[in-house]
Amino acid sequence: MSNTSTTRHTRRVFSGVQPTGNLTLGNYLGAVRNFVALQDDDSFERLYCVVDMHAITQPFKPIELKSAIHEVAAAFIASGLDPAKSILFNQSRVSAHAELGWIFNCVARMGWLNRMTQFKEKAGKNKENASVGLYAYPNLMAADILVYRATHVPVGDDQKQHLELTRDIAQKFNNDFEVPDFFPLCEPLIPAESARIMSLRDGTAKMSKSDPSDNSRINLSDTADLIAQKIRKAKTDPEPLPSDIEGLAERPEARNLVGIFAALAGTTQDAVLGEYGGRGFGDFKPALADLTVEKISPIGDEMRRLTAAPDHIDAILAEGADRAAALARPIMTEVYETLGLLGGGTTG
Ligand code: AMP
Ligand code: TRP
Repeated sequence: MSNTSTTRHTRRVFSGVQPTGNLTLGNYLGAVRNFVALQDDDSFERLYCVVDMHAITQPFKPIELKSAIHEVAAAFIASGLDPAKSILFNQSRVSAHAELGWIFNCVARMGWLNRMTQFKEKAGKNKENASVGLYAYPNLMAADILVYRATHVPVGDDQKQHLELTRDIAQKFNNDFEVPDFFPLCEPLIPAESARIMSLRDGTAKMSKSDPSDNSRINLSDTADLIAQKIRKAKTDPEPLPSDIEGLAERPEARNLVGIFAALAGTTQDAVLGEYGGRGFGDFKPALADLTVEKISPIGDEMRRLTAAPDHIDAILAEGADRAAALARPIMTEVYETLGLLGGGTTG
């Protein structure tokens, strides 16, 4: 496929994670692990951001926000992101995100945002009382990406619609202001086996930081014992595992656990069923518990070590922010010039 992102623009990866509570196995398998995988591909520049300005779109406690920012940064590093290879920073330190976010509020159309399913889920029944920020959130997300002219965005499946909107915004900006190729049309990088990890209590709901039941998710910070306990308690059905994928079609909980196994083992669901097909959960769950503990609990241990020294994490984020701001500023100068605004020369 040839589009502007692979021609005029430098190959650049951007992704973000919100500091809104514990990171889950879903965040890890759907996103962070792929951030790490891209780190060894020298054809890309990489920026990974703790998107703290997104975290204030819903109710939050300032006293908890700061430690949540450090915790996501610690999870990045503990998962294998190296600040020498990737730019790690927090969004609120680089004001260009908010500047371009405002400009995109004036580019995106109400009708586009009205279609965003994540707003509907997050606002719930009480839409009138949702913050304007929650509604405009996808515009800020587009700004996060385009302020660096990022071409590739590793995310889980739930962000697909936001990335389509990002492309629409880029295209409209390029067309309206007659600057072809100004912004690239970025491509999502969505993992095949783990795009959507589901709750351990309900195989039809996404595993989420905000689920009221802690047993519904594995947190990266969970101890080995807690991880094993949550897997043992995971909802299942009484049937043995099938020997092929079609046999999982009506069994969302079984499908989810097989998917988690495959993703953690770096194999396919077919291969997992090749080994466990015909065997019951009494065999499968202990194997999954061992595998999850083996892969995830070292990350939790390292996160605890890192968050014990928040000043060190903060120094990494501040240094990353300086590098990110240096990439964003010339692009913002071009944006201001393109719009006929006089802001391009500001230093703030
Ligand atoms: P968030 O926690 O909403 O900021 O999400 C950060 C990243 O994790 C995004 O790329 C999401 O798509 C991804 N993600 C979150 N939950 C899941 C899940 N249950 N399965 C797969 N990916 C997920
Ligand atoms: N909206 C994303 C989420 O909830 C987080 C995010 C914000 C993001 N800005 C981004 C992801 C830019 C990728 C690129 O998961």
